[in-house]
Amino acid sequence: MDKTTTAYDNNAERYADKFMAFAPYAEKIRRFRDRYVTENSTLLDLGCGPGNNAAILSTVENLRIIGMDLSREMVRLAKANVPEGDFSVKDLRDLDFKEPCDAVVASFCIVHLTLEETAILIRKIARILKPGGHLYLSFMEGRGQGFETTSFSGDEIFFNYYGRDKIAALLEQNQLAVVETLEGDYEEQDGSFTTDIFMVAQGRTGC
Ligand SMILES: C[S@@+](CC[C@H](N)C(=O)[O-])C[C@H]1O[C@@H](n2cnc3c(N)ncnc32)[C@H](O)[C@@H]1O
Repeated sequence: MDKTTTAYDNNAERYADKFMAFAPYAEKIRRFRDRYVTENSTLLDLGCGPGNNAAILSTVENLRIIGMDLSREMVRLAKANVPEGDFSVKDLRDLDFKEPCDAVVASFCIVHLTLEETAILIRKIARILKPGGHLYLSFMEGRGQGFETTSFSGDEIFFNYYGRDKIAALLEQNQLAVVETLEGDYEEQDGSFTTDIFMVAQGRTGC
């Protein structure tokens, strides 16, 4: 198992303690839910973590939530937190899911992928999204990549920081039209701030 997944397995409860109800992120997912997620639809939650986003999304009537995460512990927590969801252990680098979805959430999961892996994932998401469907994609802005400890993990985790223009270009190349870009400051352990980016993109709507 890779170092990042071991770290998430070891620290899943601590991650959940911090992020199950982390107001700045919960607010962004609620906004996405209220604007773009419709009743009787299907949503794919990639890198679902402990089900923090799924718990908010699950208030939509008859929403089928399919969640995936590489950490067994995260999937265990997601199942406990959102019993109505369908969660499984999957590696996004080998995503072979093909069922058309009305919405896809990729919340802070590409931060653990290389740029090449993210480009492949975005291409696959574009194929999965139904025409007119919406993608929620969040990541930390910056340059560079490497292993770091965090407020929720003393074990090192691989993080990759992206430029918003680069991600917007990857989305547009795959006919995913960016309809919203929000940002927020996240305070790190040392008191410095990282910029979080929250994008919504819409799948192609016809010819
Ligand atoms: C920062 S957490 C985000 C969790 C949740 N989506 C959220 O927004 O709070 C990143 C999650 O991505 C998962 N992850 C990392 N690499 C992955 C991969 N290759 N395939 C699937 N999940 C992965 C981790 O196990 C972790 O649960």
